[in-house]
Amino acid sequence: MKLAIMGVGAVGRSVVDLAPDYGHVVTAVADSSSAAVDPSGIDVDAVFDRKERGGVVGSGDPEDALDAEYDVLVEATPTTLGDAEPGFSHVRAALERDRHAVLANKGPVAERYGDLMALERESEGTVQFEAAVGGAIPILSTIADFGPSQISAARGVLNGTANFVLSRMAAEGLGYEHVLAEAQDLGVAEADPAFDVDGTDAALKFVILSNVLSQGERVYSLEDATVEGIRDIPASALDLAAEDGRTVRLIGEATADGVRVGPRLVPQHDALAVSGTRNIVQFETVNAGQLHLSGRGAGGPETATAILSDVGRLE
Ligand code: HSE
Repeated sequence: MKLAIMGVGAVGRSVVDLAPDYGHVVTAVADSSSAAVDPSGIDVDAVFDRKERGGVVGSGDPEDALDAEYDVLVEATPTTLGDAEPGFSHVRAALERDRHAVLANKGPVAERYGDLMALERESEGTVQFEAAVGGAIPILSTIADFGPSQISAARGVLNGTANFVLSRMAAEGLGYEHVLAEAQDLGVAEADPAFDVDGTDAALKFVILSNVLSQGERVYSLEDATVEGIRDIPASALDLAAEDGRTVRLIGEATADGVRVGPRLVPQHDALAVSGTRNIVQFETVNAGQLHLSGRGAGGPETATAILSDVGRLE
């Protein structure tokens, strides 16, 4: 498949690096930062890490990449709320050209799911977004395999940054600001880490899960979610929880009652008490009890693998 990549941050860059391993070719890239591309084409050092330029369109103007030759648009610009722009327009432009769209950007799927599905219905192209929920963990493909109607609820940890902060504060007694800076250094935090620690990023993922699980019966957006973050949790609360054999985790839920995200007390040996940047999702199934999926929910190569799996499903 020929790929046009919108957004050359940690995720877009990893797609460029890994695409050849999956047998795909990058034909265009666009990024608003002039550090990533130059007007005459790709800045090979910045974007391709010394790979060849060979006929690839590179531009700071998304229109140049959208007009290039490609089969799949990869939307990897930062998540935005509300109208989910500019990501939504990038996806619309691809679908209107009857190309496929694969999103790592959560905004269009969480905030404009109805609009996105309407565009897909009118296009020959297909929309996929495994990378928007839980990085490398095949959460959406598992739902598709299992059957959305066979899963009654999802809960768990879907923000690696908040989990890293909570688990490191509890284990090492380190301060909040210090640990958050460490998470930013690891490259898992959002461009604006307030998205992580205020629970917004986790809420967007559980909104997406609600949209998938409800199969169009109801469309959810961030406005429908009840969200509380972890900024105000004092270290003393983590100490008290530990004395009682428990810990605090930022837990999200997508149930028939809606979407909720907030800090919760969890037994230290509970399946949901994952450590570091790890993510876990627990499905309640209708006939087969609980199902757990756990792994790396963030990071460039991890998220790129989910994108490239989606691309593979389109072949
Ligand atoms: N900032 C997110 C996290 C990255 O920490 O999990 C993946 O969406």
